[in-house]
Amino acid sequence: MGCLPPRNQPPETRREVDPIPQLITGGAGFIGSHLADRIVHGGDEVLILDDLSTGRRENVEHLLATGRARLVEGSTEDAELVDALMSQVDGCFHLASAVGVQLICERPLDSLLKNVRGSDVVIGAASHHDVRLVFASTSEIYGKDSVGKLHEESDRILGPPQVGRWTYANAKVFGEMVALGHAAEHGTRATVVRLFNTVGPRQTGAYGMVVPTFVRQALNGEELTVFGDGRQSRCFAHVSDVVAALVAVYASDEAVGEVFNVGTSMEITILELAQMVIERTESTSQIGFVPFDEAYAEGFEELGRRKPDTSALERLTGWRPQLTLEDAIDHMINYQGTTWGDALDEHGDHEEELSAVDAH
Ligand SMILES: NC(=O)c1ccc[n+]([C@@H]2O[C@H](COP(=O)([O-])OP(=O)(O)OC[C@H]3O[C@@H](n4cnc5c(N)ncnc54)[C@H](O)[C@@H]3O)[C@@H](O)[C@H]2O)c1
Repeated sequence: MGCLPPRNQPPETRREVDPIPQLITGGAGFIGSHLADRIVHGGDEVLILDDLSTGRRENVEHLLATGRARLVEGSTEDAELVDALMSQVDGCFHLASAVGVQLICERPLDSLLKNVRGSDVVIGAASHHDVRLVFASTSEIYGKDSVGKLHEESDRILGPPQVGRWTYANAKVFGEMVALGHAAEHGTRATVVRLFNTVGPRQTGAYGMVVPTFVRQALNGEELTVFGDGRQSRCFAHVSDVVAALVAVYASDEAVGEVFNVGTSMEITILELAQMVIERTESTSQIGFVPFDEAYAEGFEELGRRKPDTSALERLTGWRPQLTLEDAIDHMINYQGTTWGDALDEHGDHEEELSAVDAH
């Protein structure tokens, strides 16, 4: 029995015929590949649609070898391709997205259009084929609201549209509204999850992600570059817990038409994070500080803190994070110690510039 209940068949016919796969857009990326691991190890099959823009074939090569996963290299903007894939699946996790503060700030228009068009195509096709859909949104949609725990009904405080950073949040909000609109008007079985900072093996630091960058810097004995004074705080969830939440939400009929925060509320400042990484890698690295306006284009807006209220998810599914940030850092140290060389060759040109903020 797989970890995901099939959605389009009556129970008595389940698994009597060939298993119907699940589609993961962005499945060769960091979170998508861990989700694919989980589904395949649960005995189900996955179709992965990925343009390999920030994802890597290596993330899923081991799954392709099992014959239970297939990687289709293509874009979510390709309506014909997405329609053909959607007609073969039972459920879809829509994770494909241009991500990372560096990428978004460098190419705001590309990122905006890619995310808006891709989500329109994927969500529309899921609706058309009556496929169960989980759409990955982001805590970034809450914008600058830093006061307390953010819950699903919290107001959004966004900066002006001319600040590139906010294109990502707005594109994700578009996706949320399309998913919820289809659920309300067409009965589409869609759920929105707002992921907060997620960390773990296979995450690359190449696009502005702080933890893999700190781990790499510490392992190489380089200075850990903290942006600003390091007092900004974040909550980092282990990817394994996030994947468990995605699966739990997918399996719940009551989650249809709803929005859920996914993340941990264990808060840490970026400076404390740097110290923790140095300690766990037993590195001799020092910590350096870089002002935000040197790290990013003028007008960059940083957030003081971002902490989720996940009580809605916990009430509905019983989900609770099982792993700590220390676990995630240790797993990333192991991962980078063995496989990081390849990733650096590919993305190394960005890495020097990056650190202490994630656009999530
Ligand atoms: N990692 C986090 O902390 C975090 C936080 C909040 C939200 N999210 C969301 O989770 C999802 C996965 O993020 P991730 O951290 O794994 O990033 P990632 O970059 O590793 O994964 C995104 C994947 O999507 C693929 N992709 C991008 N645009 C595509 C397109 N148009 N067509 C096909 N494939 C495309 C990329 O190649 C990549 O494999 C994203 O939707 C992101 O917005 C992540």
